[in-house]
Amino acid sequence: MTARTSNWIPSRRIRFVAGLALAFAAAAAVGSRWSLLALLLLVPALGAGWAAFVMLRIRRQLSPGRGGGWERRIHELVVSRLGLAPDSRAAALDIGCGDASLLVALLDHAPAVAATGVDYWSGSWDYAQAACEARLSRLGLKAAFQRMDAARLVFPDASFDAVVSVMCFHEVKAPRGVKMRGPLLAVSEALRVLRPGGAFVFVDRFGDAADYGEPAGLAAVLPVAGVRRESLVATLGVPWPLNTRRSLGPVEVISGRKSPMG
Ligand SMILES: C[S@@+](CC[C@H](N)C(=O)[O-])C[C@H]1O[C@@H](n2cnc3c(N)ncnc32)[C@H](O)[C@@H]1O
Repeated sequence: MTARTSNWIPSRRIRFVAGLALAFAAAAAVGSRWSLLALLLLVPALGAGWAAFVMLRIRRQLSPGRGGGWERRIHELVVSRLGLAPDSRAAALDIGCGDASLLVALLDHAPAVAATGVDYWSGSWDYAQAACEARLSRLGLKAAFQRMDAARLVFPDASFDAVVSVMCFHEVKAPRGVKMRGPLLAVSEALRVLRPGGAFVFVDRFGDAADYGEPAGLAAVLPVAGVRRESLVATLGVPWPLNTRRSLGPVEVISGRKSPMG
């Protein structure tokens, strides 16, 4: 039931890098007729070729089937850490829901959950709101979808019993004039719309200082007690090259409950 419709590595991104490799190689071949110095262009050609190979390998690992189905495994980990009972009627929000695969996994586990997915659905991804709606209806599942910026959720405080998000926050930009980093703002927005005592599971590049800055910044927006932080790579035994620094290496799973005091 959790067949994927797309992938975290859009194929056009791989085609672009592979095209770059071919362009450098062709320029080296043509240029070398006039000067052997043109053969130096083989260096970026090999670099881009290697990058395209690694991206292709990662795309395969994330997809279902022989590659390993790592996107699905990550979604299943989130559902398991969230800990909702199969008959739960909780109101659950997925921030940056993409093609709704996490919501499908959640609804497979607990079909009566009142699920909401929000996303920017910008052109950088192969995802779209209409595709999410069509997918859920094809599967006979119910969820509401809304286009929304994770930096400014329109929901009032404490709107949801559970909030999840996978690989979205590091992409969030703070609105002009807001001093807080975008990813930190997204975490605090996610916790704002969660009711006191509600459960959350966030998967993101929390270990990457380029996204989150000093560890104290993240600690300041998370609940003070009862938070579990795990390395995704160590918890699931993610293989190379998906486990590298530029891929899922700095990714952590942060789960817990919002303090009952709010
Ligand atoms: C790597 S994809 C992950 C998709 C999905 N969470 C999953 O696990 O398959 C990142 C998603 O975050 C969304 N996103 C990025 N910035 C966003 C923002 N500011 N507000 C809402 N969604 C955003 C993108 O549109 C994309 O769908």
